[in-house]
Amino acid sequence: MAQNLLNKAACIADLKTRAKARIPKYAFEYLTGGCNQEVTLRQNRHALDRIYLEPKYLSTSQGANLETQIFSKIYSAPFGIAPLGLTGLIWPKAADFHARAAHNANIPYVLSTLSSTSIEQAAQCAGDNLWFQLYPPADLEIRADLLARAQAVGCQHLVVTIDVPAAGRRPRDIRNGLAVPPKIGVNSIAQSIIRPAWSLATVRHGLPEFASMMPYMKNVKNMRDIANYIRTSLKDVVDQKMLEQLRKDWPHKLIVKGVISVADAQRALQAGADGIIVSNHGGRQLDASRASISVLPEIVAAVGDKMVVMVDSGVESGPDIARFLAQGAQMVFAGRAFMYAVGAFAEPGAEHCIDLLRSELLQVLEQLRCPTPCQLADYLA
Ligand SMILES: Cc1cc2nc3c(=O)[nH]c(=O)nc-3n(C[C@H](O)[C@H](O)[C@H](O)COP(=O)(O)O)c2cc1C
Repeated sequence: MAQNLLNKAACIADLKTRAKARIPKYAFEYLTGGCNQEVTLRQNRHALDRIYLEPKYLSTSQGANLETQIFSKIYSAPFGIAPLGLTGLIWPKAADFHARAAHNANIPYVLSTLSSTSIEQAAQCAGDNLWFQLYPPADLEIRADLLARAQAVGCQHLVVTIDVPAAGRRPRDIRNGLAVPPKIGVNSIAQSIIRPAWSLATVRHGLPEFASMMPYMKNVKNMRDIANYIRTSLKDVVDQKMLEQLRKDWPHKLIVKGVISVADAQRALQAGADGIIVSNHGGRQLDASRASISVLPEIVAAVGDKMVVMVDSGVESGPDIARFLAQGAQMVFAGRAFMYAVGAFAEPGAEHCIDLLRSELLQVLEQLRCPTPCQLADYLA
């Protein structure tokens, strides 16, 4: 039955519809929502829809291959799973499912500092497909320890997120009591009870936690203490000086996430970063932000020959990934799409989402008669 339903989930929108019916409203809104009036969230979609590709039907080409080399590793496709915090709220063990699926499919998996799975557990699941995203803790010993733990499990890619100098204002989360500190009220309990599969999985695996941060939390007794701890300990703002320090502290690939201007791309380069992820955090932080796809060509023109330029924000299909690649990105990440998949089908959903995006992207390349992802720029209309 479940396999049958899985086979019928033909696109990311189908996964989203099923996830909405299976997880509590407050968790779905935390996942799907953007900040303020959600202008940036809509803008990501609108701007992507305005990118057109032009086929070369009469050219001679021998099919298409999605393999992509980023830094020194060859991945089977030019897309990966973006860092997602509090994954356990959407579905218990979601991060483990993502990490395992990414490993099996050989695509990058970025573990968030605030994931519900620890660095060590994620490494067991993702192997060398694990990248680690850092929200730098103000406490330097904790920061050093997180980097040491990432190194100890063999992680080669550190992703430093710079676009959260202030918490995003998300009206849906505020209304649902998901702001910090969280309020678990009658409404959230009622919303959970009517989602039996989610409730059962949550009872079985426990409430979500910030697993990588747990060893540093002393004297925390409940969700409120934990939320307060996270809010106060991860409040450090990343500036160029901190990036330069992190460059000294981290011996492997350093990637800066949340770049949405040429000026910040150049600062990241000056600080010694090996790569950037152009991103507006999926429209969750600044509601007057430009869309990633709109800024991307300027950034590629400015720094694309000196560092690896990757991107996220707005991927809902294989054609979206092709649009980003055609505008010069070397790797494209998706966030919500992978969470919808696990909300819809738990572990098999993660693999299914990769399969969907891979098949859709391959179809676009074959339709265009474009042999490889890095040649897509030649097919911009
Ligand atoms: C539920 C949720 C949690 C997120 N948590 C983090 C996080 O902990 N760290 C981070 O750098 N980005 C986080 N992001 C942003 C994503 O990494 C990514 O930039 C965004 O989801 C891309 O947009 P998309 O969802 O349209 O693909 C989060 C996004 C969502 C939807």
